Amino acid sequence: MTGFTGYIQLVYVLTAALFVVGLHLMNSPATARRGNQVAMTGMVIAGIATFVLLIHDGTVTTTGWIVLIIGTLIGSAIGLWAAQSVKMTAMPQLVSAFNSVGGGAAALVAIFGYYDAESRATGVLGTTTVFTVLDVLIGSVTFSGSIIAAGKLQGFIPGQPITFKGGRLLNTALAVVAVGTAAFMFSTASLPALLIVVLASLAFGVMMVLPIGGADMPVVISLLNAFTGTAVAMAGFVIQNWALIVAGALVGASGSILTKLMADAMNRSLANIIVGGFGTGDSAVAVTAGPDVQVRSIAADDAAIQLAYASKVIVVPGYGLAAAQAQHGVAELAKILEDRGVEVSYAIHPVAGRMPGHMNVLLAEANVPYPQLREMDEINPEFARTDVALVIGANDVTNPIARRPGNAMSGMPILDVDQAKSIIVVKRSMGHGYAGIDNELYIDPKTSMYFADAKRAMADLAAAVKTLVGS
Ligand code: TAP
Repeated sequence: MTGFTGYIQLVYVLTAALFVVGLHLMNSPATARRGNQVAMTGMVIAGIATFVLLIHDGTVTTTGWIVLIIGTLIGSAIGLWAAQSVKMTAMPQLVSAFNSVGGGAAALVAIFGYYDAESRATGVLGTTTVFTVLDVLIGSVTFSGSIIAAGKLQGFIPGQPITFKGGRLLNTALAVVAVGTAAFMFSTASLPALLIVVLASLAFGVMMVLPIGGADMPVVISLLNAFTGTAVAMAGFVIQNWALIVAGALVGASGSILTKLMADAMNRSLANIIVGGFGTGDSAVAVTAGPDVQVRSIAADDAAIQLAYASKVIVVPGYGLAAAQAQHGVAELAKILEDRGVEVSYAIHPVAGRMPGHMNVLLAEANVPYPQLREMDEINPEFARTDVALVIGANDVTNPIARRPGNAMSGMPILDVDQAKSIIVVKRSMGHGYAGIDNELYIDPKTSMYFADAKRAMADLAAAVKTLVGS
């Protein structure tokens, strides 16, 4: 290592420290924004250091520089535009798209290391290392799997599990072909073998995500996120770039922890996700349609009476709260109730909304005191002594059907909303949630449906409670 390269490595150590500090700051919603800025600064410094190193080494050709600079400009412009223009509700799709690009880029690094300009000139392929092989395998799976995940989240691929007879067998066969051919590459450098590994891994990525059912998407998104990090770390080993290794390892490790948390929250096993189709029970059972089904509908005034004269209210927020941007409205309603001495808390399901921590971030934005946000395990025993459970735009995370076997949500832990003395559900229609399954809660005799947009409903409820109590 020359003196100059040593300085660059020192800069990489500094950037690694910034990544770690950034991640640490993301532990709390209060410091998360700063955490992002710190980690971003680290990435900018790492990028500049790499450019400086390339200039110093003088190994990049003029064409190489043109491709590098134009690629960096186009990529940065698209990234900046996408991140600034994306709606909060479309964030998971964007994260999936970014995972896909990250995994694909990492795989290309290894492919190029194996079959570069020198190989083309001399006909001798690069050396097969364990990093090359892992990078191609994981990067390709991430690339195709994340495209399918983004498509499902955006809705241009059906969100329901897509399965067919022999699907699991095909998945296993693709994995065996990809890993077996990769192992063969260690003894014989071969371009067709590399192609087979890439194609089998791409197909495996598609087949892994297609059978995932709606409610289980969070687990697979976190898993793909962990894969992206791991592929990037492998790419770092291939080109010996320490900043890439550290950044990739951090994403891989934190993504793996998140995957474990999500899988535990959904009561699913990771092995099932990878072999395919764990969210694929029998078809959904229709419970909210038919002649015997009674749904009780109420208006703001009736709901306000229940809320104003309750002693304990639990708010259950879900995706609809985010879609309607009703977080400020619910905080204001809660304040009015608290001023009357009503005890208000918020039940947070780990996969409520469309991204990890979605409800925490949303309610923090409306300055809801953090101690009032209660995790599922902690709040569930409290529903039985709650006067009113106010469900706002939450659906799947409250569906009691998950307690029964034989459906796509079976086994998923839910908020025990049906244990409350009275339940008010605010949503616009009898429409499904993300999993596409009828919610049995809506036909519970204790449930009143308040059909309205959540933001409008919060404003009307706050006004109705104020009128009722004369403040
Ligand atoms: P969902 O089950 O998706 O239900 C949301 C409900 O909000 C819908 O039934 C919809 O009913 C209602 N809604 C939509 N816009 C509304 C508005 N403007 N005003 C009032 N209501 C509105 O939400 P959830 O209970 O939060 O569950 C989340 C689901 O998403 C789970 O299945 C989860 O697995 C999945 N998922 C989660 C994540 C993460 S990481 N959190 C990522 C991907 C998928 P109407 O149309 O009748 O109003």
